[in-house]
Amino acid sequence: MASDSATVGQALDGAAATLSDAGIPEARHEALRIWADLNRQSPAEVLLKRDRVANEVDAQRFFRAVGHRAAGQPLAYVTGWAGFRRLTLISDSRALIPRPETEGLVDAALELVSTGIAADIGTGTGAIALALRSEGKFDEVLGVDLSSDALELARNNGILTGVPVTWLEGDLVGPLAGRQLDLLVSNPPYLTEAEYDTLDRSVRDYEPGMALVAGEDGQKVLRRLMYEAPAVVRRGGWIAVEVDCRRADDTARVAAAAGWTNVSVRDDLFGRARYVLAQRGSSA
Ligand SMILES: C[S@@+](CC[C@H](N)C(=O)[O-])C[C@H]1O[C@@H](n2cnc3c(N)ncnc32)[C@H](O)[C@@H]1O
Repeated sequence: MASDSATVGQALDGAAATLSDAGIPEARHEALRIWADLNRQSPAEVLLKRDRVANEVDAQRFFRAVGHRAAGQPLAYVTGWAGFRRLTLISDSRALIPRPETEGLVDAALELVSTGIAADIGTGTGAIALALRSEGKFDEVLGVDLSSDALELARNNGILTGVPVTWLEGDLVGPLAGRQLDLLVSNPPYLTEAEYDTLDRSVRDYEPGMALVAGEDGQKVLRRLMYEAPAVVRRGGWIAVEVDCRRADDTARVAAAAGWTNVSVRDDLFGRARYVLAQRGSSA
């Protein structure tokens, strides 16, 4: 713990030692990130001012956050911020922390369609919907989630970023009844119950279970999406979903069985089969 006259640098050293003792691999880097994010400064700014005496309130808040991180809380929840593509979003336990592989889903979707109307089903922090709206040329983007907590966070992120998205609470495509989308994107829950049980505690203890688990075979939500989405996607429109790489081919088969055409599986940036893309033909 920093004394009354500890400098920022000394606070960072103390925090790095605490995090390292707790088994956090990049302890020094994380200590710097926590101080920088809590004080809305860049890491470079913090380092430039490291010889200044740390304000007592800032130091107390910092060491409280470091304690949470040492206890296993994910970094994005500790700092309250998560980066997603060009956006910096508020992140807390109301929604899943956006993952790097999901950034690739946005690329895959934008390559298919970037105009008209798009929706993000299971929007969480709002990351995909906000990225589609800010990077594409869509007339409207809608973000849907069953969780009112997640939707409240998404709404806050919409206000923070100034990106206009229509937020709707409800079950999958239910709130979109009567719409004819050009693009439907989703990173739905896709783990089996057994897989969820083996996840790291830092995920299970902090991130919402309903964001991750989809029944015994992990396909419950994706299966529903493939069969229910044609009601709200126009003929010739597209669906782009993130899947578990172990079940990408299975999801592609479900899409074809549900009547989608031009079904393809794409790899993520780590070379894992992650995205299933399909177009609504005449029979879906
Ligand atoms: C894997 S998280 C994805 C969050 C965000 N889109 C992202 O990529 O970071 C899945 C999201 O789907 C939501 N969800 C789960 N079941 C749903 C359902 N039946 N209808 C709508 N949203 C659902 C969860 O609340 C969660 O926010």
